[in-house]
Amino acid sequence: MRTIVSFGVVGWLIAATAHAQGPDWAYQRVTEEKPAAHERDPNESRTVPGSSLSLTQSEIDALYNPPNWFPDQTGDVPEIVAHGREPELQACARCHGFTGMGHPESSALAGLPVNYIVRQMAEFKSGARVDQFWMNRFAEHATDEEVMAAAEYFSSLTPLDWIVDVVETDTIPRVYVGDGRMLFEHPDGGTEPLGYRIIELPEDRELATARHPTSGFIAYTPPGSIARGQELVMTGGNGKTVPCMACHGPDLKGLGDIPAIAGNPPVYTIRQLNDFKNGDRAGSMAALMVPAVANLTTEDMVDIVAYLATLDP
Ligand code: HEC
Ligand code: HEC
Repeated sequence: MRTIVSFGVVGWLIAATAHAQGPDWAYQRVTEEKPAAHERDPNESRTVPGSSLSLTQSEIDALYNPPNWFPDQTGDVPEIVAHGREPELQACARCHGFTGMGHPESSALAGLPVNYIVRQMAEFKSGARVDQFWMNRFAEHATDEEVMAAAEYFSSLTPLDWIVDVVETDTIPRVYVGDGRMLFEHPDGGTEPLGYRIIELPEDRELATARHPTSGFIAYTPPGSIARGQELVMTGGNGKTVPCMACHGPDLKGLGDIPAIAGNPPVYTIRQLNDFKNGDRAGSMAALMVPAVANLTTEDMVDIVAYLATLDP
């Protein structure tokens, strides 16, 4: 009995370590306590410009009924996207939004090929693709019909220009990871060195915490990163990687079942390059990505993603 228990703990530790690779900043892991000044009263009523709704923060954060501030603009939304299915399957729109653009800690789904979305769900389900936080659990519980309904909905949406600005800089506002792994400016103010990271902050913190469907993000990247990234993406950088157009299409907006990478949320994209490299993303078509990432350092990934973020989706 004792042996089994300790084996279990060791197994858990190995599994946890195996899936805890990659920089904290890219996975937006909580590494410090949330500042008290950003505690919000869950019963405070909130509105957003142009919507007639008034919702409390706990309604905004609801797992099975996330806010659709502009129902006239979304039309019919499949049940799984709008409400999920209790008790295991949260509404897709809670994290990916009704416009399918997500937040840096999740991902954009708008306009992705149906087959691509279905394949990702199957690979989250089988464990060939690992999300350290959510998706494996949801994919395990979703039926084929639910996956198809969600895939068709998100695929039909046009991706928005979500990264409103890419700013090359050495210094950024001091940040922290708050509720829902969202990254915010610290209420105490101050700055911190960017170092070799790419950091996305909401263009409007209030709208981001309201889960507004069209309020985007600003990306901060190191000086010179965009030009270095362009070189890697276009030429492969003397064999360091493979020119991305070969598979992602001449405008990097996807080709067949291969997804678009132009204008994608950058921090999400860093996680993907890292996951392809470390084997957390090892699905049936992921092997095609291995030569592109095998020799990349985190700095190269930041450069590539900085350039991709400057492109129109
Ligand atoms: C609690 C938050 C949350 C909910 C709810 C959620 N997702 Fe996700 N989803 C994520 C996160 C986080 C990622 C990014 C994983 C990563 O970084 O690799 C993701 C990634 C994905 C991807 C991969 C996108 C790509 O470009 O490869 C797909 C597909 C997806 N989700 C579909 C869904 C569907 C369908 C639902 C509803 C059944 C859903 N998600 C519900 C958090 C969520
Ligand atoms: C040989 C073909 C090939 C080349 C070259 C290639 N890719 Fe890919 N890439 C793929 C395929 C196939 C997928 C989809 C994998 C899957 O379905 O899981 C993919 C997926 C991705 C994704 C995940 C997108 C998402 O929404 O999750 C990113 C990011 C990416 N590639 C970036 C790049 C970059 C950057 C380059 C150039 C440096 C590149 N790729 C070069 C084939 C390629």
